[in-house]
Amino acid sequence: MKTEEDNFMKAFKYYKMIKQQPSIKNVLYVENNISNQIRELPLPSYEKNDNRHSILGLKPLGKWRTYNFKNHPGLVLIRNPFTNLGQRYWIRKCLEEYPRSPNKKNIDIEMRLDDWWRACHASKEIQSKQMKKLRWTTLGYHHNWDTKLYNDDHRTPFPEDLAELSDVVANYLGFTSFRAEAAIVNYYYMKSTLSAHTDHSEVNLEAPLLSFSFGQSAIFLIGGPTKTTAPSAVLLQSGDVMVMSKEARLCYHAVPKIIPCNNATWNEELSTVTECLPNMKYVCDSQKLQARLNLNIDNKEWSDFNNYIKESRINVNVRQVLNENQTSLSSALIT
Ligand code: OGA
Ligand code: MN
Repeated sequence: MKTEEDNFMKAFKYYKMIKQQPSIKNVLYVENNISNQIRELPLPSYEKNDNRHSILGLKPLGKWRTYNFKNHPGLVLIRNPFTNLGQRYWIRKCLEEYPRSPNKKNIDIEMRLDDWWRACHASKEIQSKQMKKLRWTTLGYHHNWDTKLYNDDHRTPFPEDLAELSDVVANYLGFTSFRAEAAIVNYYYMKSTLSAHTDHSEVNLEAPLLSFSFGQSAIFLIGGPTKTTAPSAVLLQSGDVMVMSKEARLCYHAVPKIIPCNNATWNEELSTVTECLPNMKYVCDSQKLQARLNLNIDNKEWSDFNNYIKESRINVNVRQVLNENQTSLSSALIT
């Protein structure tokens, strides 16, 4: 009984090893699909007129490559649909803006830093103490790590740009009624891990969970509904979007290891986006968004963020909390 229960933990401990590097020969990734576990999906019938991609730092939807996993129905990987400049934009957002108050972050209990990024760059002392202590920021409905319950009084506006990005991705996969209502931004350093868990706090467990990865790579373990299932290990690289839907939505998962990426694609060939001001669903000022995206082509502007991301990984985990016909947690469920 004990050994069966430990299948997930066994894999976690194996990949977590530091003294001796774990073998990555069984880690699944698109570029080296030796075991035929990963299958490319045909292009879905997305809305061809959705022209919001460029301004959100995404490649044209017709160029996205999407995969599923033989042993994990409901798990979908979109292999880096971001442009290089787009990766810079989102990395910067996660560092400079999302950790600002009133959003919540793990270091709030220790020190009041309303603007963590700015504080770290204004004082060497704060930087040395606080920079690598940031492990998470929450957006929208704030995840309560103790009770695991969301609360109407614990909600701040969800970032417009991230809502728009999530809408494009969800629509592309056919989840047309998805609404981004809560997100956890996870910050990982080279020795960070995330232990085995399921994400079950949301009222709506039918809606998919969208997980965006940026920066250094990660080994992601995904198992079954209990820890008895031995998990698969998948390599998540910068720009990758992992979608946990249907049967995969409530499966155990973890991040036992961060590994240096092969290429820092965010520093490769960059091009600005011009004359593209599409109709947006959530973003009010698309001109400003375009300017903010293009700003990052300047390596001087980018340099502080580059220093951070060269030894870190950022994961943005977006969820819908409410059912389609609900506007708040307290509003009666209409069935
Ligand atoms: C989470 C999560 C996975 C990752 O935030 O719940 O599972 O890839 N993150 O960092
Ligand atoms: Mn999770």
